[in-house]
Amino acid sequence: MKRRALLISMLFLTQAAWAAPDKDMKAMLELADASRCLVCHDVDATVTGPAWRDVARRYRDHKEIEETLVKRVHEGSSGNWGKETMSANKRAGIDNIRVLVHWILTLR
Ligand code: HEC
Repeated sequence: MKRRALLISMLFLTQAAWAAPDKDMKAMLELADASRCLVCHDVDATVTGPAWRDVARRYRDHKEIEETLVKRVHEGSSGNWGKETMSANKRAGIDNIRVLVHWILTLR
């Protein structure tokens, strides 16, 4: 009986994890849109820039790079993903960029 309850609760937990939506998706996409990121980025698809889920996957175990990424987005960067260049995003504001990069790294 006990084992069965355990199994059921485990199943439930796995399902909950699967179904859990990405944190703050709607608000963050609005901020990204207002910051003009979505001209070149999508969460799931590679556009001009890499898909943000791919960015999250690459740096998953390297959270210490967060501030470096903030700088790259702010000042622009190239050569880390392919041939395309990310132009500087100074108008988005460093604080917004910090919020967005932090969120991008939480994507599953
Ligand atoms: C003009 C198109 C463009 C815009 C606008 C843009 N990006 Fe990018 N982004 C790119 C490209 C291209 C790359 C890959 C650059 C490289 O290879 O180093 C990239 C890379 C990144 C990366 C990964 C950086 C790395 O070093 O691995 C992050 C995070 C990112 N962008 C976030 C943002 C955010 C947040 C915004 C909005 C404030 C934004 N981008 C706006 C084109 C863009």
